[in-house]
Amino acid sequence: MRFLTKKIQEENSDVIVSFIFEDENEKSDVFNYIDKLSNHALCEQIYKLKTITGKYQESFKYAINENLKVLIVGLGKKSDFTRKKFSQTVAFATRKAKNMSNSCSIAIEFLNNLTCTNANLNEKDTAQITLTSARIGLYEFDKYLSEKKSKIETIELLSNELTTEIEQGAQIGAYTSFAMKFAKDLINESAQIVTPLYIANLAEQIAKEHKLEVKIYNKNQIKSMKMNAFLAVAQGSVNEPVFIHLTYKPEKEAKKKIALIGKGITFDAGGMNIKPATSMLTMKSDMSGAASVLGIIQAIAKLKPDTEVHVISALCENMTSGSAYKQGDILTAMNGKTIEVDNTDAEGRLTLADALCYADTLNVDEVIDIATLTGAVIVALGNNITGVMGNNQKQINKFREISENYCENTWQMPILDELKDNLKSEIADFKNTGGRNAGTSTAAWFLSNFTKSKSWLHLDIAGTAYLDKSNKETLSGPTGVMIRSLLNYILA
Ligand code: BES
Ligand code: MN
Ligand code: ZN
Repeated sequence: MRFLTKKIQEENSDVIVSFIFEDENEKSDVFNYIDKLSNHALCEQIYKLKTITGKYQESFKYAINENLKVLIVGLGKKSDFTRKKFSQTVAFATRKAKNMSNSCSIAIEFLNNLTCTNANLNEKDTAQITLTSARIGLYEFDKYLSEKKSKIETIELLSNELTTEIEQGAQIGAYTSFAMKFAKDLINESAQIVTPLYIANLAEQIAKEHKLEVKIYNKNQIKSMKMNAFLAVAQGSVNEPVFIHLTYKPEKEAKKKIALIGKGITFDAGGMNIKPATSMLTMKSDMSGAASVLGIIQAIAKLKPDTEVHVISALCENMTSGSAYKQGDILTAMNGKTIEVDNTDAEGRLTLADALCYADTLNVDEVIDIATLTGAVIVALGNNITGVMGNNQKQINKFREISENYCENTWQMPILDELKDNLKSEIADFKNTGGRNAGTSTAAWFLSNFTKSKSWLHLDIAGTAYLDKSNKETLSGPTGVMIRSLLNYILA
């Protein structure tokens, strides 16, 4: 898909999307343009006949002629306007526009009057969010459908004045969109194809294309690094584990260094503590963290911030078999700490433990992991809010503020020493699980024992990475959650 910024008059699309607020009659440049094309029929329909009043996600279609249609979409009351609502409305709008006749190209109005709303949107963020959310609305995975779905090839962002701010925001929006589509496609693809080796090959390809440093460690090399917690999870599968590490280095000296770790379980059957069928159904998505960080590093390579970014993933399957690891096994992680396996389905924290230890060897300022880690986070926060934890409150606050600014919901969960007792083992340093209570925080407490970083952030996306039910912004399936937030966090 192509993303273009265009002056209104130079628009060349099948559908033009324009927005109206419920409680405002000021007409935008784009509205005036399409109103003129419609011989003022739009003004009549909206402001005289009140066919649409601008309620949140109310919409009105109008055909200017056979080749050009318009879609007017309500943003609700200006006083209730938020960035999240804006994103939801844009995604809703492009989804609608896509289904209007045989559109190939959608033009969207750039809203230049959002600074004075509660959302406090500047031009750069407005452009970024408009394009990102437009792409979210258009996402479909039709690789395996004999009847292909969408034909949208171009999204145009329309504004009378194309400022540098708009152009910069649009560029970030385009690369963010690419990163999200990349991740979602990889998550949608079946685990039969997306094995650890498949992702490793992809990582190598990405590194080549974007001139990134890359290290791929095979099973023997993983053994040499003493990542025995990771290896234990992997040992029940015929598909061998792979550990990947990509690095983006800015041309000038890096202002900051960040390591991003993505959980990379390409299929989570639960191991010997096998999952019931309904829980296992979507477990090809247990590599959502890895897919996200691989999407992010491609956008980073294009946007070239002055931050050094490392992307790490311990990739393997968690299977049941004659060679699988067992309850009661005692594992020694890379940092020498020992873990008694209480439940083989708590595998993510075992692979992440070794990945966190590895990140400690890189001398970075911050470590961030993103993981579909606990079912408990779904109980606590549902499917639209990501759990945020960490050991540096400043970093947590900054991340949460950015996530809200880029339309993603997050909430902090505590990591307190009280949780320690949950994982007490008589024969090892810790057990890997401890009952159902405070599952998300307990998992995070476990992880905290494997990092030396003073700025470690943990994102539990088990509830938000993959939706069984569509929400107001994203259709069911993978979401690419936290890519927007992480990218903007790195660019900040
Ligand atoms: N990958 C799962 C977590 C998960 C659950 C992701 C639902 C997406 C949707 C993780 O490996 C897991 O199985 N966690 C267990 C931990 C338990 C055994 C302590 C869980 O949450 O049930
Ligand atoms: Mn599991
Ligand atoms: Zn898992």
